[in-house]
Amino acid sequence: MDKIRIRGGNTLSGEIPISGAKNATLPLMIASMLSDETLTLRNVPRLADVQLLNRILGNHGVDMSVDGKRHGSTGLAGDTVHLTARQIVDTTAPYELVSKMRASFWVLGPLIARCGIAKVSLPGGCAIGTRPVDLHLMGLEALGAQIEVEGGYVVASAPKGLSGARINFPKVSVGATHNVLMAATLAKGQTVLENAAREPEIGDVAECLNKMGAKISGIGTSTLTIDGVSRLNGATHQVLPDRIETGTYAMAVAMTGGEVSLTGARSDLLECLFPVMEQVGAKMTETSHGITVSRNGQGLAPVDVDTSPYPGFPTDLQAQLMGLMTKANGTSRIRETIFENRFMHVQELVRLGADISLDGDTALVTGVDRLQGAQVMATDLRASVSLVIAGLAAEGDTFVNRVYHLDRGFEQLEKKLSACGAEIERVSA
Ligand code: UD1
Repeated sequence: MDKIRIRGGNTLSGEIPISGAKNATLPLMIASMLSDETLTLRNVPRLADVQLLNRILGNHGVDMSVDGKRHGSTGLAGDTVHLTARQIVDTTAPYELVSKMRASFWVLGPLIARCGIAKVSLPGGCAIGTRPVDLHLMGLEALGAQIEVEGGYVVASAPKGLSGARINFPKVSVGATHNVLMAATLAKGQTVLENAAREPEIGDVAECLNKMGAKISGIGTSTLTIDGVSRLNGATHQVLPDRIETGTYAMAVAMTGGEVSLTGARSDLLECLFPVMEQVGAKMTETSHGITVSRNGQGLAPVDVDTSPYPGFPTDLQAQLMGLMTKANGTSRIRETIFENRFMHVQELVRLGADISLDGDTALVTGVDRLQGAQVMATDLRASVSLVIAGLAAEGDTFVNRVYHLDRGFEQLEKKLSACGAEIERVSA
């Protein structure tokens, strides 16, 4: 199995192109199931999760083709992908596939909306908490779906089709918002989603659905109004840039010092990060090409940050911030409010010499003078990249095992970092 080897100590300088957002690409691909015409997506990142979702959608009858280079080739520009769900040939999403990628559960809404029936495996637990799906089911039931859970599967039907409803989510959920939003586009009448998630990736999907003929208003707010239509057509849509990848590389530069231009990044998607980075002692500047990040000379200052739904500080950057704060001059307090148990990276950062103590949902990170390279293990996508950030500042070699977690969500990470001067490579174990 491959590992990433990092020899810490180099500053970063140069340019890193930011890829299309994974968390928009996955639901956009799923949205193709709502139409029998072709949905073309541009700027699709080459990620293991995209390939896996391609297999899952293929099982339902979605045909996917990629323009030009073969999927997985080495260029850094995103792929243009065509998805056509001429006919849904199978309305079952089996455990073997859904358990590998939680977002594939989101096929449930589109399947019920388009076919009136669906049988989708419950996604099961995962490394960052229990992650239930009650809000997804509550929303779809409100639209008129009859839902039973049998043998680990959600079995849903809507023999008379779905009907619009007013749904107030008791808790903000990105996935439940995607799932119910997609289903509501084809429901009869009007649906209003209150306390909907406002993550930019939801706005991106809603804009794409509108290009497909949906009638969604309130995009970017926590109240989405959807006037159902009888069918959706094909469309072409450009995936928005990945704000989590952007924030990750910004923190890598803050860690090493230097100056890097994150080309294609959008500052409006990451407003919460600017004040945090300023406090840390790094400079983020909006430019005509993206965002430039730099840190010269001075050390890192500690922070006090709570994760929260958008526009708050994203849980998907919590591990990276913790990696960065292992070298701050003082003690940082980082509180995780979205997922219980999203601290799997703590023990691995400690292996590199970090000083971190946990108290419930809060981590206290006291910066140390030296991190030392070690063998560490990636436990989930964002946790694994926090180890890379720490490894960039550690003395000697850090080996990050279980690299497949990184490949799920970071396109050509080692290539992007080594082009800016990092000593990082993929090695076969
Ligand atoms: C998505 C993102 C993930 C991010 C997360 C929070 C994708 C592919 N994944 O995951 O990267 O970390 O949003 O920003 O976009 N919950 C319930 N019941 C439900 C659904 C969720 O209680 O039915 C809870 C979860 O356990 C969690 C919280 O709500 O505590 C937020 O989860 P949610 O926003 O749904 O996360 P995902 O959509 O799974």
